[in-house]
Amino acid sequence: MSELTMDTLVSLCKRRGFVFQSSEIYGGLSSAWDYGPLGIALKKNIQEFWWKEMTRLHDNIVGIDAAIMMHPRVWEASGHVENFTDPLVDCKKCKMRFREDKIPEENAKNKICPECGGELTATRRFNLMFKTHIGPVEDDNNNIVYLRPETAQGIYVNFKNVVQNCRMKVPFGIAQVGKAFRNEIVTKNFIFRTCEFEQMEMQYFVQPEDDMKWFEYWRGERWNYYKKMGIRENKLRWHQHGPDELAHYAKCAYDIEYEFPMGFQELEGVHNRTDYDLTRHTQYSGKDQSYLEEGTNRKFIPYIIETSAGLTRNVLMVLSDAYEEQQVAEGDTRVVLHFHPLIAPIKLAVFPLVKKDGLAELASDIEHNLRDEFATYYDQSGAIGRRYRRQDEVGTPYCITVDYQTKEDNTVTLRFRDSMEQVRVKIDEIPAFIRKADKEYKRV
Ligand code: GAP
Repeated sequence: MSELTMDTLVSLCKRRGFVFQSSEIYGGLSSAWDYGPLGIALKKNIQEFWWKEMTRLHDNIVGIDAAIMMHPRVWEASGHVENFTDPLVDCKKCKMRFREDKIPEENAKNKICPECGGELTATRRFNLMFKTHIGPVEDDNNNIVYLRPETAQGIYVNFKNVVQNCRMKVPFGIAQVGKAFRNEIVTKNFIFRTCEFEQMEMQYFVQPEDDMKWFEYWRGERWNYYKKMGIRENKLRWHQHGPDELAHYAKCAYDIEYEFPMGFQELEGVHNRTDYDLTRHTQYSGKDQSYLEEGTNRKFIPYIIETSAGLTRNVLMVLSDAYEEQQVAEGDTRVVLHFHPLIAPIKLAVFPLVKKDGLAELASDIEHNLRDEFATYYDQSGAIGRRYRRQDEVGTPYCITVDYQTKEDNTVTLRFRDSMEQVRVKIDEIPAFIRKADKEYKRV
């Protein structure tokens, strides 16, 4: 079947209520997107999957939820005011704007526009942070706040709070999921790079001498995480940052890249941030951020190993990975999203074979009884084959059909999305059956 394009994905996302253009009735806002009913369900499921993997399944990782707006000194300490910039060039002729490091080297060197061949301006450094003011008076010096460009700093400034009040001992981690904002020069490829996005970050505080051991540990964990989420491993690869790519805080860094429709691109970063952040916060706040180790009485500034994934970018990755156009018979193609059942927006759809003879009521009762545990969907309209196809296209892993046999022996037909196989299951055994099938899921 043909290669997946971004246009196909964008169109499916709109048609089936995953993602809509923001403020579309006003012509849309460039690079801003709204999540529809299925999109928000998918995003929440990915977030919950991450949260469970990164907090609940560990003895020593806790969560926080810090404010988006922070004291402006935070961003001086973090280095973002000074260093969080992109090199910007404009075309004097067609007025297009580019990130200099994202255009072909020859164009950048010779100052030639890659779109129209016009002359490019000299390079300017452009800070990516959105700046605003707190309070009614826009006084440049006293009331500036930034919308956070990464969630990480909200964790660092709470390091001491967590150590002192939550009895955490190094090594330990703090996790957070939340919005971040960057005034990106180039926003394209749908929800891949946007000005408003969500991150899932975990900061792991370690003894300085153990930094590389934990760095390698978290690289392994994060790779396995994507495998566990059902992502095809041949679509993932590592990219190590060279010296000219390293962020201002990083000693070493690897990206996990995914092969999106536009090619391999960063999905998540694993960074060794050393003691950079806590040292800088000590200097800028005047509050000592060092840690006193019990037993040895040694005082040190912990090193930080960071795992930083984009939640909204994960949504795009999961959609790209799940999509398949399958030829099921001569001239008959189905679109199927192979979501892992643990993150599928709808887990279970229930249909009556026909609306009459009490089958609709029976199916509706079954669906209601399953709601407490599963995200369900009831559909009684159209031919049964079409109902299956509609669910395939939104990635529902299991469909249940109530038919005349149900009235006789209390069994239903349960159809698997990937294999399209059908089995008979007793009504009261559906929850246990689904739980087991979820555990054993392998993409077909
Ligand atoms: N705290 C470290 C940090 O923010 P980063 O590599 O700049 O590191 C981490 O960002 C992740 O956040 C990226 O791998 C990506 O998934 C996501 N991300 C960054 N900028 C983004 C944007 N403009 N739109 C969507 N996701 C973005």
